Amino acid sequence: MSGAAVNEYHPGLEGVIASETAIANIEGTDGAGGLEYRGYRIEDLADKVSYEETAFLLLHGDLPNREQLREFDGRLRKARAIPEALVTLLGEIPANIHPMDALRSAVSVLSHFDPDVNAAPTDHEANVRKAERMIAQMATAIAYRRRLSKGLPLVPPREDLDHAANFLYMVSGKVPSKTMRDAFDLSLVLYTEHELNASTFSARVTVSTLSDIYSGIVAAIGTLKGPLHGGANEEAWKVLERVGSPDKAESWIQDALARKERIMGFGHRVYKTGDPRARILKEHCIALAKEIGDDRWERIAEPIEKAVTSQKNLPPNVDWPSARLYHYMDLEIEIYTPIFAMARVAGWAAHIIEQLDHNRLMRPRAIYTGPPHRPVRPIEQRS
Ligand SMILES: CC(C)(COP(=O)(O)OP(=O)(O)OC[C@H]1O[C@@H](n2cnc3c(N)ncnc32)[C@H](O)[C@@H]1OP(=O)(O)O)[C@@H](O)C(=O)NCCC(=O)NCCS
Repeated sequence: MSGAAVNEYHPGLEGVIASETAIANIEGTDGAGGLEYRGYRIEDLADKVSYEETAFLLLHGDLPNREQLREFDGRLRKARAIPEALVTLLGEIPANIHPMDALRSAVSVLSHFDPDVNAAPTDHEANVRKAERMIAQMATAIAYRRRLSKGLPLVPPREDLDHAANFLYMVSGKVPSKTMRDAFDLSLVLYTEHELNASTFSARVTVSTLSDIYSGIVAAIGTLKGPLHGGANEEAWKVLERVGSPDKAESWIQDALARKERIMGFGHRVYKTGDPRARILKEHCIALAKEIGDDRWERIAEPIEKAVTSQKNLPPNVDWPSARLYHYMDLEIEIYTPIFAMARVAGWAAHIIEQLDHNRLMRPRAIYTGPPHRPVRPIEQRS
């Protein structure tokens, strides 16, 4: 493979094939378009499987049978506690630090306490065990940090609750309703994996040096934070708040587009005719708004969608409905992106393991645009 031609520049690597993967396909293997996790269409998974089943699918290659799920879920439930040293740190990080930055530090600290810390970075089985622990512990770290930064007492994990219900419980201290738990679980399923997006790519680049899985996840968290990627769900909520009422939507969008602003939660590098995840989540937004008896944000979202679609031909992406969904669950805007991360960790880990199982160092080239060759002048001759 060495000596590959370096002659075409694709800004943002758009359209460049940088990996092979058996994990997700965002074009659909039947040619019909859409998103598939290991050959299962997202619409099908959304109706039938939990986050735990989805994480198992990504890490182990197929959906679990009943016994496999019982064991996997049992391991996740038992792994939820986080080290005391991390709890202390989460309480000491200044309250104004963004939860994504706290999460990045938390995952780095978790690596020091992992029982497989000394396993080789390419040890497949150890990497799967580390991935399972991260799935369980990132949720706890996010919830604990939330409560500690607000001066609230910690709500320890409950082993009788599944991943989605337990997270909402640790954040609020209340066991969620079934509608709420189901909608949250679904949002995790939809956020779990998305081929070679920016954060997954950075995770794969990191471990392609034979660095460890935790370093790959830390790199991915840092990449996810940006508003053009995971940070978009927080920004999408701000759009709804700024528009404020259905009758202002059309002119607000017109003005924003005239100022060349990006409407967060709309557009996608790959899906040009619509993000299937957004379509699935929208129905749950409507159901949840009905359950809590407040459809104000649905009434604002609808004309915004219409305006962005008609004025710019941009359909909503997954972050558009998820911002509303999390608002209905009383989750604060600052933890929207950490929630994305706690779901996506299974996808990141699956990609990291796939990369390490068939590794080749990622080392692209750049076209040099700086000054031509020139002599170095002694310092006294420099202006
Ligand atoms: C996701 C995103 C970065 C992909 O964009 P991309 O494929 O790189 O598209 P480009 O940046 O090349 O934009 C193409 C055109 O669409 C416009 N555009 C793309 N997304 C837009 C948005 N959300 N709002 C307004 N205009 C947008 C660009 O301004 C550009 O317009 P122009 O041709 O008139 O200059 C982009 O759609 C975006 O910034 N969306 C908002 C952030 C977001 O929701 N991210 C989450 C993605 S899941």
